[in-house]
Amino acid sequence: MLYIGIDLGTSALKLLLVDETGRVCREVSRTYPLSFPHPGWSEQNPEDWWNACLTGIPELLRGFDPNQVAGIGAGGQMHGLVALDEQDRVIRPAILWNDGRTEREVEYLNEKIGREPLSRYTANIAFAGFTAPKLLWMRANEPENFRRIRKIMLPKDYVNYKLTGVHCCDYSDASGMLLLDVANRRWSEEMLAICGVTPAQMPRLFESYEPVGCLTAEAARALCLPQRVRVVAGAGDNAAAAVGTGVVGPGGCNISLGTSGTIFISSDTFRVDPNNALHAFAHADGGYHLMGCMLSAASCNKWFCQDILGTADFGAEQSAIRQEALGHNRVFFLPYLMGERSPINDTNARGAFIGMTMDATRADLVQAVLEGVAFAIRDSFEVARGLGIDIPRSMLCGGGSKSPLWRKIFANVLGIPLDLPKTEQGPGYGGAMLAMVGCGAFPTVQSAADALVEIAGTVEPDEALTALYEDRYRQFRKIYPACKALFSALRQ
Ligand code: XUL
Repeated sequence: MLYIGIDLGTSALKLLLVDETGRVCREVSRTYPLSFPHPGWSEQNPEDWWNACLTGIPELLRGFDPNQVAGIGAGGQMHGLVALDEQDRVIRPAILWNDGRTEREVEYLNEKIGREPLSRYTANIAFAGFTAPKLLWMRANEPENFRRIRKIMLPKDYVNYKLTGVHCCDYSDASGMLLLDVANRRWSEEMLAICGVTPAQMPRLFESYEPVGCLTAEAARALCLPQRVRVVAGAGDNAAAAVGTGVVGPGGCNISLGTSGTIFISSDTFRVDPNNALHAFAHADGGYHLMGCMLSAASCNKWFCQDILGTADFGAEQSAIRQEALGHNRVFFLPYLMGERSPINDTNARGAFIGMTMDATRADLVQAVLEGVAFAIRDSFEVARGLGIDIPRSMLCGGGSKSPLWRKIFANVLGIPLDLPKTEQGPGYGGAMLAMVGCGAFPTVQSAADALVEIAGTVEPDEALTALYEDRYRQFRKIYPACKALFSALRQ
């Protein structure tokens, strides 16, 4: 049998066709636009996601027998607010996970409602990208649109709705709405009331591996698939990536180096970071996880190379960096191009180069960007360590992990071995694995991971380089606190 894994990313929709042995038979991707209508805002048109499925899935299946397809599972960019009206029309562009417009609403939630009640209701506090502050923003700024809302959903749930006609969401993705009582896996009545929405507007909740339904006749026709294909609830892209890299059950760690950068620590028991710097979310295997998320990770490198240096040849830029220069760079980069979530929670934070002298080179700046992203992930890694969590090694996935140099920088900045999965399309592969579980090919997510996930190689840290990076990281840590007040002053 065949399974389709969907990775609904921020820059593209990536589709995988996977057979029951876990072999990726084909990949197809479709890009779509991302718009920044104001500085710090970030939006996408949900119809673009569906159109990408409509053209991408038939192409994915070309040369294969559609009758062999048993299931579909998606991992999607988290937190985005998709709102549909009475006729199921999209009311406004989706407000994405890296959108920073809700500073006022976040302050209201964290200060007026209070962090302690929020954490009690949802296991988390408010961050600008989360869905609840976006609903408050819409209520205050677009009351007419807000009144028209009949269905609230997350990005991959829009695709699932178009596929099945079922208004559904899974627990891992729902955790990032700040509307879910994560510990008890149900919508929080308190939070729905605070945001002025009703349970009828909310999706029905499922475990990620549970089938929500089969294809509608219309979707089946449009995608050239039989109607009996099962669609599972799927997961937020980080939980799906963790499944795809085998980080399920207690004590696993996955670092994803995509548009965002995340560190994901899986657990079979529910746990909250008392300072709420790390998110406490449900996992796609039925358990839980703690997660730190930086808003701009591989996107910093893409921005610097493509938009500033005017080249798409990232490899050539990186090959100009001398190995002896690692651990000695005097140029630092703050990667806060969209503000920052974990652990500093500051929508006003901005990107910055600092420490340049007349002899600073282009290669030093490229290196500083790669290092700045690794240092910022280390910040969340340190929060986890501060909670007494031992992270002896981690998986590494995402587009940025294709760079051997960046992998080496990460392993040495963190001082731990990093394992690379054989199939590095984390969320799409995880989505396909969830579909296999939902179709009965495996009894549990854990058993699917045990059978299917293979490690292709490991990047070991080097003692001397780790020591050099320890020193660089200590310097890096001084920069943001010194700039914090300036960033908010510059915002005026
Ligand atoms: C996680 C987060 C991002 C997006 C990226 O909390 O906001 O990793 O899911 O797609």
